[in-house]
Amino acid sequence: MKTLHIDLGERSYDITIDHGLLDRAGEAIKAVCPKAKKLFVVTDSTVQPLYLHRLRKSLGNAGFKALVCGVVPAGEHSKSPELLTRLWEDMMEFGLTRTDAVVALGGGVVGDLAGFAAATILRGVDFIQIPTTLLAQVDSSVGGKVAIDLAHGKNLAGAFWQPKAVLMDPETLKTLDDKTFADGMAEVIKYGCIADREFFHFLCAHPTRAQIMENIEHVLYTCCDIKRSVVESDERDTGARMILNFGHTVGHAFERLGNYETWTHGQAVSAGMCAAVQLGFGLGVMDSDEGIQDLMDLLSAFGLPTHIAIDACTPEGVDAWNLVVETIGLDKKGAGDDLTMIFLKRMGQALPVKMKRDKVLENLEAVFGR
Ligand code: NAD
Ligand code: GLY
Repeated sequence: MKTLHIDLGERSYDITIDHGLLDRAGEAIKAVCPKAKKLFVVTDSTVQPLYLHRLRKSLGNAGFKALVCGVVPAGEHSKSPELLTRLWEDMMEFGLTRTDAVVALGGGVVGDLAGFAAATILRGVDFIQIPTTLLAQVDSSVGGKVAIDLAHGKNLAGAFWQPKAVLMDPETLKTLDDKTFADGMAEVIKYGCIADREFFHFLCAHPTRAQIMENIEHVLYTCCDIKRSVVESDERDTGARMILNFGHTVGHAFERLGNYETWTHGQAVSAGMCAAVQLGFGLGVMDSDEGIQDLMDLLSAFGLPTHIAIDACTPEGVDAWNLVVETIGLDKKGAGDDLTMIFLKRMGQALPVKMKRDKVLENLEAVFGR
């Protein structure tokens, strides 16, 4: 078992990583929500048949009186205003009070949706994260960002709402398909790139799912510890937290080009990280090209793309380059000439660099072969 304390004053909490923790979740929740009688569990249609019965049993054993479950369809579309409203109504129907709590059992979609529901119902109730995907365990369950999507884009309505506890059972990762596991690996690899050179080398020496699972507690702990230190220094994402966006600026453009269907988030971030190191090296921000090939080999070992040809993935009639420029915010001449890009100074050290938009544009053109 490993425990990490996130120190955010009165919003502090622990992350617990332990095999079989799902079966002890009830007692862990009792410890942090001693006044709660009712728990409203949100999960999705894939996770429900796999794990809900175990959680239910454990909650019952811990003496929680009632449990109503909001089961949402698996997938990003569930982060919608319609489903949020349904959860709010179900919570009221259930008689949730301000001393009760909401529990998210699932991946990042369930965590973001349930967390935003918890942040807003009755002006905010306690919230517990039980993440079941690799991405949710290393990233989305930690740090308190919760949100839903709007027609205008992803995560546009949200809040900072820290959980009371994050309970990770690495055993749940065994039922993930390879593609979803790889998605999480893109974020795992990102942590090595931005903050821990030794961890990056560790990953390079363990480039298979089996090897990662043999060392999963170490992997989860290391990633969450990096996120912990970033979130503790900038909870509200006004400065230092932006290093977590390494690979995401260009990655978001890839996601949007593929209409959020062609490329998963992890695949887009993977190609985005490769674009960022090439761009950084080309601009002289990176000390040397050492590690760039290792990064590409590592991503490829998990089946993640190192390059996305933008024209190939764009629907007919859409100007791919214009969409990239717009998504990255390079078209916003009026909003100021500077843009902060997250580069690496060297493998294991992120470096935010304020750059003139024109310069970013010029160098990106080279990366995309325009
Ligand atoms: P997801 O929640 O959609 O899960 C991916 C798939 O795996 C789903 O089909 C789900 O049903 C299934 N699944 C979940 N656990 C499983 C298990 N143990 N076994 C088998 N299948 C399982 O996606 P995700 O990648 O976990 O999260 C992506 C979401 O997270 C996005 O909406 C993104 O915006 C959000 N996110 C939020 C933050 C944050 O800080 N809040 C950070 C990163 C990403
Ligand atoms: N996933 C980015 C953040 O938590 O800030």
